[in-house]
Amino acid sequence: MKKKYILVTGCAGFVGMHLCNKFLKSNYSVIGIDNLNNYYSKKLKMDRLKILKKFKNFKFLKVNICDKQKLFFALKKKEFSHVIHLAAQAGVRYSLLNPDSYIQTNIVGFVNLLEFFKNKKINKFFYASSSSVYGRNRKIPYKENYNTDFPKSLYAATKKSGEILAEYYNYYFKMNLVGLRFFTIYGPWGRPDMSLFLFTDLIKKNKKINIFNKGNMSRSFTYIDDVIEGIFKLFRSKKKLDFDKSQIFNIGGDKKIRLNKFIQLIEQVLGKKFKKKYLPMMKADVKETFSNNNKLINQIKFEPKTSPLIGIKNFISWHKAYYD
Ligand SMILES: NC(=O)c1ccc[n+]([C@@H]2O[C@H](COP(=O)([O-])OP(=O)(O)OC[C@H]3O[C@@H](n4cnc5c(N)ncnc54)[C@H](O)[C@@H]3O)[C@@H](O)[C@H]2O)c1
Repeated sequence: MKKKYILVTGCAGFVGMHLCNKFLKSNYSVIGIDNLNNYYSKKLKMDRLKILKKFKNFKFLKVNICDKQKLFFALKKKEFSHVIHLAAQAGVRYSLLNPDSYIQTNIVGFVNLLEFFKNKKINKFFYASSSSVYGRNRKIPYKENYNTDFPKSLYAATKKSGEILAEYYNYYFKMNLVGLRFFTIYGPWGRPDMSLFLFTDLIKKNKKINIFNKGNMSRSFTYIDDVIEGIFKLFRSKKKLDFDKSQIFNIGGDKKIRLNKFIQLIEQVLGKKFKKKYLPMMKADVKETFSNNNKLINQIKFEPKTSPLIGIKNFISWHKAYYD
């Protein structure tokens, strides 16, 4: 019988690298694809890849998921048991500067993958969505069935589009698609465009950090290991999912933490105060995100609980080891 792989797209990304690492350590065979674009440091992506390339059960394919022909050709001769689609143009603010990259990767690229897998037997096809789909929703904590028709950014609109596309492919082709709404993930090997990474870089350079809305925002900050554990448990879960209904799970930190509090914790760990510049609220940003994890708990008896202090300490230790 032909060997079956788990396909992870965006494997050189923050979440992708950690997830592949978890699968590889658990002896699964993984094919990772990534186009190694330069949205942020290519070196960071290459260094993440180096970790994965040490495993014999890992294969890397440098492919742009928007290039349908090359994507189909790259995947053609392999067999896959699962797909975990993480490749995306991420970032809320950047979507104002480069809208095309969001439409291309998050919509066209996603459809290319769905088209490739639509008639293949896949146990589960997970895809990354985002808490940003809750947009102008005011009711918290967010439940999966709340209205998501009012995005505040193009990024959110493309993630919501992904959920609708998945809904259709699930209905028509029975593809076992499972959407994962992630909430502000942080931790070692994180993304340089996200607050903890940005702030740590700036404090080291003695530069001011920009704080929007006086730091009067809150987030279900989610530690990376919890996200990986959540995905892994969903991947292994034997509890039946009803794929006639859209399957979407929140995976978010169990507490809502104010940005000001998060900043204080970073200062505490670094033993240094930030120089702060206060700026008005950005129109694309949401004021609060807070995850209701009941559906996740019901499915896998797990929710992200790592305390921000521990998570920040782990990030800062990694950052020091990697950069200093
Ligand atoms: N990190 C978070 O806080 C967060 C929150 C909500 C949702 N998400 C979603 O989770 C997923 C993973 O996020 P991340 O933080 O690891 O982002 P990331 O940017 O670190 O990883 C994405 C990877 O996809 C690759 N990629 C981008 N476009 C591609 C293309 N056209 N073809 C092939 N590869 C491509 C990138 O090179 C990158 O390595 C994304 O779908 C993101 O939208 C992340």
